[in-house]
Amino acid sequence: MQKKSAYNVAVVGVGAVGIEMLRCLRRFNFPIGKLCVLARSSRQIEVDEYKYDVWAISGEAFDGIDIALFAGTEGEKGAAVQYAPEAVKRGAVVIDNGADFRMEPTVPLVVPEVNAKQIKKHKGIIANPNCSTIQMVVALYPIYKAVGLKRVIVTTFQAASGAGKQAVEQLRQELEIIAKSNFQNVHVDLPNRAMPQQLAYNVFPHIGSFSDDDYTSEEWKLVKETHKIIGDSKIKISATTVRVPVRTGHSEAVYIETKEYISVEKVRKILKNAPGVIVVDDPAKALYPMPKDVEGKTEVFVGRIRKDPFVKNGLWLWVVADNLLKGAASNAVQIALELIK
Ligand SMILES: NC(=O)c1ccc[n+]([C@@H]2O[C@H](COP(=O)([O-])OP(=O)(O)OC[C@H]3O[C@@H](n4cnc5c(N)ncnc54)[C@H](OP(=O)(O)O)[C@@H]3O)[C@@H](O)[C@H]2O)c1
Repeated sequence: MQKKSAYNVAVVGVGAVGIEMLRCLRRFNFPIGKLCVLARSSRQIEVDEYKYDVWAISGEAFDGIDIALFAGTEGEKGAAVQYAPEAVKRGAVVIDNGADFRMEPTVPLVVPEVNAKQIKKHKGIIANPNCSTIQMVVALYPIYKAVGLKRVIVTTFQAASGAGKQAVEQLRQELEIIAKSNFQNVHVDLPNRAMPQQLAYNVFPHIGSFSDDDYTSEEWKLVKETHKIIGDSKIKISATTVRVPVRTGHSEAVYIETKEYISVEKVRKILKNAPGVIVVDDPAKALYPMPKDVEGKTEVFVGRIRKDPFVKNGLWLWVVADNLLKGAASNAVQIALELIK
């Protein structure tokens, strides 16, 4: 990208992720010339004390835009499929949060702490990985570099905001109804709910859609995206993804089998020095990462690092991050900052 003192930026979508994008652009002092905020319909919004004009999306809206950060919906009628190629045609570099382009061979899939070098290879579109993938690879890549990885088994505990602003509203309404019953009735059946099940007072192992092999699309994202980002499809990865009644902050219980032996102390040391990682691991003092503590933070938090008592090279990690920030908006803005470096 041609060096400039300020860049014209478009943000597409003002949902759970789009709002955080606007916050991150300010937080990271991104050098913005013109900012164009787009969604399905025009209106004015307020984020913190700042007012933004939101315009109805159109191809022409991308004229003169240098970087377009997409946080709209996915799929055929979603913002990225309809407008990302159009934005590229009009000269913008697109950084897309959705899954539409992630696995295309010509589209770099980037977590700056792991594979920032891929950014240079872009042909107009750069993809931001899935939220649960980003935090896992930030924690695992330093270990992979040191001793290799043979096996990863991950169970996720994913917050409502990972499914967008309507899912957060579903959880809020369900909690309100349960509270109104004085916590006597814990079954709520909202019409037109955003998630496949009730989330308040519940968890469910169903994120994305089920495929013929009985895994969900979210579970396969963890496998395929990790392979692409690390650049090693030999790592045997298997996932169970679970929605939990947390507003924001995904947690993951990650079991790994390394190629070479590594001690817990060495893993702790490596992770303490790893970019974007904070180790919180003092179980005797009840210190370990929790979603309520990481909301608003852009790092990945790791704790409960411990050996498998039966498998020499087996280790457990507990990995927590803000899904709207490191899992989406701050990772995307980090990519944009790398792009203009
Ligand atoms: N939530 C997460 O933790 C997370 C993490 C990683 C990636 N992602 C991905 O990020 C994207 C946004 O997710 P979200 O959670 O922010 O969703 P969301 O809360 O449902 O918000 C979606 C936003 O996109 C806009 N939009 C939808 N279709 C559009 C179209 N055709 N043209 C223009 N704008 C359109 C909507 O506009 P209106 O406001 O006008 O309806 C809304 O502002 C999705 O692709 C999601 O998979 C989300």
